[in-house]
Amino acid sequence: MLSKLQCFFHNFGYPIMKKKLIKTNSLLQIVILSFFAALIFVISCKKDVEIPNSRYTNSISFSIPQGWPAPFYNFANNNLTPSGFVLGRKLFYDTRLSKDNTISCGTCHQSYAAFANADHTLSHGINEQLGNRNTPPIFNLNWHTSFMWDGGINHIEVQPLAPIANPVEMGETINGVLAKLQTDANYPKMFQEAFGSSEINSERMLKALTQFMGAIVSSNAKYDKYMRKEAGGEMTSSELSGLAVFEAKCAACHKAPLFTDYSFRNVGLTPTGLNDSGRAHITRNAADVYAFKVPTLRNLAYTAPYMHDGRFSTLDKVFDQMESGIYNYPTLDTLIKNGIKLSAQERNDLKAFLNTLNDETLVKDKRFQEQL
Ligand code: HEC
Ligand code: HEC
Repeated sequence: MLSKLQCFFHNFGYPIMKKKLIKTNSLLQIVILSFFAALIFVISCKKDVEIPNSRYTNSISFSIPQGWPAPFYNFANNNLTPSGFVLGRKLFYDTRLSKDNTISCGTCHQSYAAFANADHTLSHGINEQLGNRNTPPIFNLNWHTSFMWDGGINHIEVQPLAPIANPVEMGETINGVLAKLQTDANYPKMFQEAFGSSEINSERMLKALTQFMGAIVSSNAKYDKYMRKEAGGEMTSSELSGLAVFEAKCAACHKAPLFTDYSFRNVGLTPTGLNDSGRAHITRNAADVYAFKVPTLRNLAYTAPYMHDGRFSTLDKVFDQMESGIYNYPTLDTLIKNGIKLSAQERNDLKAFLNTLNDETLVKDKRFQEQL
């Protein structure tokens, strides 16, 4: 609202209004003036309100960044197009995907937080309900071999069904969502553009959401430029020392270039009342108790708090945990059994290196943001 007002005053309104207001005290004239002011307001700002959907999406495409492995999902059966992406984006930011029309995917997966949820330890769904896990970021999903902290979902195209149906997240049924979309003035046209007919069904909805999510690739951090030997990729000596520490102590699980090997591991976090059994929840295998998917370490500057339950608000707390907080479970990962010791210097260098994994272009990319 503020920007609309500023837009009005800035464009035409303010000088006219100021001059006339000084001249008149009559209530009627003020009413008439307000009417014209409102009219000018609407006309002058119309172009800001109606951003065409294609404005930031002319260049949507998916390619494998140089030096990266082949992705697990590559749009082979879901052709990525600007209209499919734009439809997926509209769905992603549409609160009608939730029962009471208050929560969209983007409510929890915020673009400015690299599509994690800034500041929330656990997710907040409809009716202020708390979930039991921290919202993971959304980028480079096409390389994921499974989804969720416990890997309970194995295909990106069915992933959105989970939050929609989850009673503490969106609490809605697919049929309920489809019925709401069918009453919308724009969706039939957008489905037509994306899929060749105006039919709105769950398969198309999921494919469009996947086009949006799968197109979100983060490969422009300083580290990436360093690897590609591009301008802007010159590392400082502290960052390079941090890279060496990282390779020695972290890379076995947080494997470059995605900074995860997608395995499930118990890294010895102290038990809490949530008593989340992690991977074992899916496999029912005792060896998987308290194992969680190794998360990426890209974009940590935007995705705090950390861990599957968001228990740590800072990287220092994560390091403290590794050094001296390892809880000795029978299923504790052998790589972390004795903790990971870091000198003050190593800690500083490691932080400097991890900062080179932050991709500012991702969080600023207008194509991925809600189009208001
Ligand atoms: C109430 C908050 C909330 C909403 C709304 C929500 N999510 Fe999530 N999302 C989460 C949480 C929490 C997880 C992790 C859940 C788990 O591990 O059990 C997650 C996991 C995911 C993942 C897996 C990421 C990974 O690294 O494995 C994807 C993809 C995803 N959500 C997409 C979506 C889409 C698409 C929507 C909308 C249809 C959506 N989410 C709505 C909170 C939310
Ligand atoms: C044995 C495998 C393993 C090693 C070695 C390891 N990590 Fe992790 N890391 C994990 C797993 C698994 C998690 C998620 C644990 C959870 O939430 O239950 C994690 C979580 C993290 C997180 C939180 C990320 C987020 O988004 O929540 C950070 C930061 C992190 N690790 C950094 C490091 C650093 C730095 C090193 C080296 C000093 C390291 N890790 C070594 C497996 C490992």
